[in-house]
Amino acid sequence: MHPKIPQEKITVGVVFGGESGEHEVSINSARTVLKALNSGLNQNRFNVISIYIDFLGRWWPSSIAQKALEKGIALNEKDLNFPSQTRGFQALPLGSEKVDIWYPVLHGPNGEDGTVQGLFKLMKKPFVGSGVLASAVGMDKLAMKAAFSSAGLPQLPYFSLNAFELSKNNFTEELLHKLKIQFGYPCFIKPANLGSSVGITKASNQEEFLKGLSEASNHDQRIVVEKGVTARELECAVLGGQLLKVSAVGEIKYEADWYDYETKYSQNSSKTFLPASLPKGVSEQIQNLTLQACKAIDAKGMARVDFFYEEEKDQIWINEINTLPGFTSQSMYPTLWQASGVTIEQLVAKLVEIAKE
Ligand SMILES: Nc1ncnc2c1ncn2[C@@H]1O[C@H](COP(=O)(O)OP(=O)(O)O)[C@@H](O)[C@H]1O
Ligand SMILES: [Mg+2]
Repeated sequence: MHPKIPQEKITVGVVFGGESGEHEVSINSARTVLKALNSGLNQNRFNVISIYIDFLGRWWPSSIAQKALEKGIALNEKDLNFPSQTRGFQALPLGSEKVDIWYPVLHGPNGEDGTVQGLFKLMKKPFVGSGVLASAVGMDKLAMKAAFSSAGLPQLPYFSLNAFELSKNNFTEELLHKLKIQFGYPCFIKPANLGSSVGITKASNQEEFLKGLSEASNHDQRIVVEKGVTARELECAVLGGQLLKVSAVGEIKYEADWYDYETKYSQNSSKTFLPASLPKGVSEQIQNLTLQACKAIDAKGMARVDFFYEEEKDQIWINEINTLPGFTSQSMYPTLWQASGVTIEQLVAKLVEIAKE
């Protein structure tokens, strides 16, 4: 037997935090990813460097990143001991020059929307997950819906508006009329560019509708109004490079009226079922639609695609794609793979391998 030649270790740069409402979710996801990259066989394969992006968009080295991971919430000026006049990306922190592969564990604007992917691309360094196009299209609910509709994927009826239009004469009356003739109540009002249900409202009457519009316009100019349904919420994951593998289908159940921020992030408010109890044909259709959704926006590496299933009508609607899905130990993406026989250590290693391709 030949002695095994030790493989050269790959230096992985995990970036987390970020100028986003999902900053803390990102810290939590990063804890899980870092733990998995540093466990078992992965220890012999990867050198891991963590980099923290603070709430003002400034990048910090591992020593500070460690603090954020321990604290579990955004670091403030005192923790950082740095004047707050500077904002945004300044330069890569010390240690970054060694990075072979970047691993963004960022959610929401500036992390999941193609921005940071563009930076990695300019550095000519491989990175985990989707590229600029899929990230940008997947993050913007209107661009995403347009791509899905041209791919012929089933979506709930919706229309869009721009927040500045709300101050126009008669605009509100016209909007109310449009809503009435197109689908009426209940409807959901969503800012196009956020995640984790932030800024989203369910409206069952005119008063709630107007309040929802004003809430959404606090977050984004681009607003989606969508027909509300009572449906089961199903999710399916993909993993792979050229060839995407699709996971089992999972289901989320909760007591609340809908899957809002509270329900998403407070313990015991929701439950995950794996695999979802569904007729085989429905699971297969969902897996098939998941692959089509990835193709429609050119998603690669990883993605989670979410669906509504109206059981009585046997109708599946695609809701959205997440190109950087939550990665906390409770999150659906790693859980879906666990249920499909891929451990979290294998999952992060695979994602790095795919990026290297
Ligand atoms: N059209 C709809 N009908 C019923 N529930 C909806 C609808 N749109 C959104 N929801 C509820 O709101 C949640 C968040 O909406 P979603 O569009 O997935 O936004 P986010 O990107 O913030 O997760 C969904 O998981 C679901 O519970
Ligand atoms: Mg969602």
